[in-house]
Amino acid sequence: MTCSSDIVSDGKQLTHKDICFLLGQTEPEAVNALFKQAYQVKRDQIGTDVFLRGLIEIGNVCLRDCLYCGIRKSNPNFTRFSMTKQEIVNSALWIHQAGYGSLVLQGGELRDPDFADFIEDVLLEIKKLSGGSLGVTLSLGEQEKDVYARWFEAGAHRYLLRIESSNPKLFQQIHPPGYSLDDRITCLEYLRETGYQVGTGVMIGLPGQTVEDLASDILFFKEKDIDMIGMGPYIPHHDSPMFSTPATYEKKASFEMGLKMIAVTRIVLKDVNIAATTALQALKSDGRELGLKAGANIIMPNVTDTKYRPAYQLYDNKPGIDENSEACRNNLVLALKKVGESIVYNKWGDSKHFHKRCGLSKKS
Ligand code: 5AD
Repeated sequence: MTCSSDIVSDGKQLTHKDICFLLGQTEPEAVNALFKQAYQVKRDQIGTDVFLRGLIEIGNVCLRDCLYCGIRKSNPNFTRFSMTKQEIVNSALWIHQAGYGSLVLQGGELRDPDFADFIEDVLLEIKKLSGGSLGVTLSLGEQEKDVYARWFEAGAHRYLLRIESSNPKLFQQIHPPGYSLDDRITCLEYLRETGYQVGTGVMIGLPGQTVEDLASDILFFKEKDIDMIGMGPYIPHHDSPMFSTPATYEKKASFEMGLKMIAVTRIVLKDVNIAATTALQALKSDGRELGLKAGANIIMPNVTDTKYRPAYQLYDNKPGIDENSEACRNNLVLALKKVGESIVYNKWGDSKHFHKRCGLSKKS
């Protein structure tokens, strides 16, 4: 009988069938063995350093109406906010002084020229305040290629744009008419051509999503030569149209599938950066730590001012709503210490995969 360790250790390229087999493991022994193997691959390929990205949720005004998302355009049941330039820069300064090394600016998708100018301005300020020593990731949705280029020039060098699912049919089902997976993929190509380290990801456990779909997602990451992965369990939001449709997994199974996706992605993609996301923590308080043990190497502590956090609920029970940045940092440090993981401060922690592909020397 084949067991998961045979599949992983015989050195062959994992097929779609192999990946389905690994994701389909449910016996605790087999699942733990899978996590252990993924951790070993992480150790061999990139070491066990954990890098931090301070996450600033810069605004919740969004032109999109994604059927799963709490901050979708047509949800009227919360206050919309947009941080000012000074507020964002102050948060960036906090991140810099805390030694996080990198930050992520994430927000609702906006595509007007004023927004493009605003972000460019903010990026230039951030560059100034840190003398260019802060790594900057953007997660601001689909944009024109020239906007991506301007933001790159102004100091951003990584971009996260999730495809949500590589199955075009499923992508259609979770978005309003007119949204297209092909457009998303075109944006990933623009980002690559512009010079960004490119990140993408999916939600895990979407209604109607199969293990085969998830295996295809991992092969999509591989085929597109993705540098960074941010993915996590789908968690229903009470004010979203998808709330009434049952998710594929109940909470415990959803969490476990989240970890298995990290583990198998690590085994298949090897040297990429993989985030242990907040959605994992929403399902289990030590979810992010367990994500690291299953092969992830990045954590994104929330640095958004607590006054804005209740209005950035992409899904129900998002953790850290009343935890300020200081508390968030202290809790994280303690939690990681407890599981024996070590944080690296004041480094960008770039994707090794990116630097290998580009043949560049390592930035830091
Ligand atoms: N559950 C889990 N993740 C979600 N996101 C949005 N809504 C949800 C939800 N209900 C994720 C999407 C998006 C990212 C910013 O947040 O994957 O790309």
